[in-house]
Amino acid sequence: MVFLTAVARNSRYIHSKTLENFSKAFVPCEPAQPLMCKPDSPASKEMLCELNKVQYAGAVQFFTDLDKSMGNYIVDADGNTILDCYTQIASMPLGYNYPSLFNVFKDESKMKILLNRVALGVYPPVNWHNYINNVLMSVAPKGLKNVQTQMCGTCANEQAFKNIFIWHANQSRSGSKGFTEEELKTSMLNKPPGCPQVAILSFEGGFHGRTTGSLSATRTKPIHKLDFPLLSHWPAAKFPQYKYPLDEHKCENLAEDKKCLAQVEDIIEKQRKNGCPVAGVIIEPIQSEGGDNEASPEFFKELQKICKKNKIAFLIDEVQTGCGATGKMWCHEWFDLPLPPDIVCFSKKMQFGGYYHTEEMRPDQPYRVFNTWMGDPARLFILEEVINVIQTERLLDSVEVVGCYTKCGLSELCKEFPNIINSARGRGLLLAVNAKDTKTRDTILSKLKSKGVLVGGCGSLSVRLRPALIFQKNHADIFLDKFRETLCEMRC
Ligand SMILES: Cc1ncc(COP(=O)(O)O)c(C=O)c1O
Repeated sequence: MVFLTAVARNSRYIHSKTLENFSKAFVPCEPAQPLMCKPDSPASKEMLCELNKVQYAGAVQFFTDLDKSMGNYIVDADGNTILDCYTQIASMPLGYNYPSLFNVFKDESKMKILLNRVALGVYPPVNWHNYINNVLMSVAPKGLKNVQTQMCGTCANEQAFKNIFIWHANQSRSGSKGFTEEELKTSMLNKPPGCPQVAILSFEGGFHGRTTGSLSATRTKPIHKLDFPLLSHWPAAKFPQYKYPLDEHKCENLAEDKKCLAQVEDIIEKQRKNGCPVAGVIIEPIQSEGGDNEASPEFFKELQKICKKNKIAFLIDEVQTGCGATGKMWCHEWFDLPLPPDIVCFSKKMQFGGYYHTEEMRPDQPYRVFNTWMGDPARLFILEEVINVIQTERLLDSVEVVGCYTKCGLSELCKEFPNIINSARGRGLLLAVNAKDTKTRDTILSKLKSKGVLVGGCGSLSVRLRPALIFQKNHADIFLDKFRETLCEMRC
């Protein structure tokens, strides 16, 4: 009840009556609550032991029983029923076993595309353009009329960088046709001018993937980067670090925006002088792996302006924030940018990777942005149904309302337990709080897990929520109750 009152006070959209409408059971037979029947997880441990004999499996937490997992609940190999607020690292839009997804491959032509995997860039199935138009383009960010499909978030970013470099090189070729002899020769030596010194600017705390380019732009944890020969001439700027609550720290946060933007301009200038110009800027609308760090719409608008002024491509990485997680299809819609970004990358909830881009960013020759599969066509059919459900069930509204409710609940907990947690933040259901230190954060994660609630950690202090879009008020109540229980135990 405390939370309901807080929501009513804080949101212009919601009053408690409306909230009661957001307790729909989308998946029949979804469990009513978590149940940890075998917290020691002997079956998962045994499977892990076997898997580890043939594959390093150090990150495996438990094995998932996909027969029993339903809706917002994941059931492990031991029958533990866990409220999943992390959903396979933020990648399940409709939770587990959403009923209408079972119909997707009943259509024989779709089944054939699943069984006969084609090389999409060379031999796409008949009428593939219709699927791209009807599915992917139906949710394209405003102003972006082209799309490139890829396998995952990492290769979406990696290939998008190549797109940017082609665009950048063509700008300076200005009018001359084709490559020079020297460019052709030096490209085979990985040397300029064929392979020029150009850079992508990223932000401290950003995560963009794990191949050479995307990992060079990634700035989260040393363990992701150690021992790899990465691109040392690619710069990083500071991402704003805000004080919370936001409305009590407007001046400091504005000053923080200005400081970070000044640094971006400074870096661009230095890189130009040093003969390694910045061709593109990559940024997450909310830094996820790096600690759920937000930046203001004004920050993004100014950053875009700087990019335009310097003829630098502006790439928004929506791999984790896209597909409705924040209550809009794309998180950057919250920023009200005057122009579309040049590129928007996606993956995770979208089911496969890829990027939308402007007409200007189209590559100029075949095989320059390419690989064998160019994504998994069967995943597009799942996405087709996911989009259908998002629209018919008005899930974006649900995410916004339930997200607002949950965030208010988190803010109340921050007020009640200020010595343990702080800084409730986020948009829609992409929410987080900080713990006072890393050890406390890790204790929160493991205590919640032992109570049957799965959440994620990010950055060094944050507890993050990444539930499915079908996360409802009743799920939020369970999460908030278990979180409160955890914090009470930690206070004692
Ligand atoms: C913002 C962002 N970009 C890129 C990636 C990489 O995506 P993938 O793991 O699908 O390669 C991630 C993964 O967490 C991400 O959060």
